[in-house]
Amino acid sequence: MTSNYAQPVLNGEGATDYARYMRTDTLLSLQRRPEDMIHRDELLFQTVHQSTELWLKLACYELAEATCQIRDGATDRAIQLLTRASLAVDFITGQLEMLRHLAPWDFQLIRTVLGHGSGFESPGWRDAQRLSRELNDTFTELLAARQVDLVELYRGSPDVPLYRLAEALIEWDERIALWRARHYKVATRIIGHQVVGTKGTPVDVLSGLISHKFFPELWQVRTVLTEIGLMGEGAQPAGQ
Ligand code: HEM
Repeated sequence: MTSNYAQPVLNGEGATDYARYMRTDTLLSLQRRPEDMIHRDELLFQTVHQSTELWLKLACYELAEATCQIRDGATDRAIQLLTRASLAVDFITGQLEMLRHLAPWDFQLIRTVLGHGSGFESPGWRDAQRLSRELNDTFTELLAARQVDLVELYRGSPDVPLYRLAEALIEWDERIALWRARHYKVATRIIGHQVVGTKGTPVDVLSGLISHKFFPELWQVRTVLTEIGLMGEGAQPAGQ
């Protein structure tokens, strides 16, 4: 018996199996309709924000699982998941580029329909911050349980699983900071300096957030290595 490929076989809303599984009818109805728009670039603005939320949803899903895997000692699996999460943040950093095509004056029009809505209220961003703190706690507990000293770890082989895990964590932290740097430049390119955002926050507060660190010890260890290096121990491996 041959299948009739033209007919959908899944249950759900939509004319095709693609529409039913991907929920495209719902997804594509989530943007303001042209007749409701105050400016045609609202679609550009919403697309960048909504897709950011989706990528952050994935990133947080992977981050939460990575934390569980670290608790279970499954370092390699945790690294895989963290790498995916970092890639998702890379994507949302890239798509900020689209906002360079939004004219400052056009944004002033769009801004009138945003209310007090602000990125500070982004659910994806809030989850990412909460999960990053949990991740740091879990990693710190793992180091303590295994009695690992970070300086010694970083003076040793980069192939050691814990070393690779530490690098995957700092990668995540760095990606977030890079997003923040790009977002700050995009925001000020559009609304300028020394003005407040839709939440009343001075835009230049965003530049301070770029240096925020979720894994301060992983940055600090580099400083310590530099200090050790400057004291004349050179780049010799630990214990030699
Ligand atoms: C026209 C482009 C944009 C402008 C002018 C802008 C401006 C601002 C401003 C002024 C703030 C400070 C809080 C406030 O008062 O609103 C802020 C925060 C924030 N915005 Fe945007 N933004 C833009 C695009 C985006 C996009 C596309 C996203 C992606 C979801 C985003 C996410 C955030 C986040 C997460 C924060 C909190 C900052 C942090 O924790 O580092 N923004 N934005």
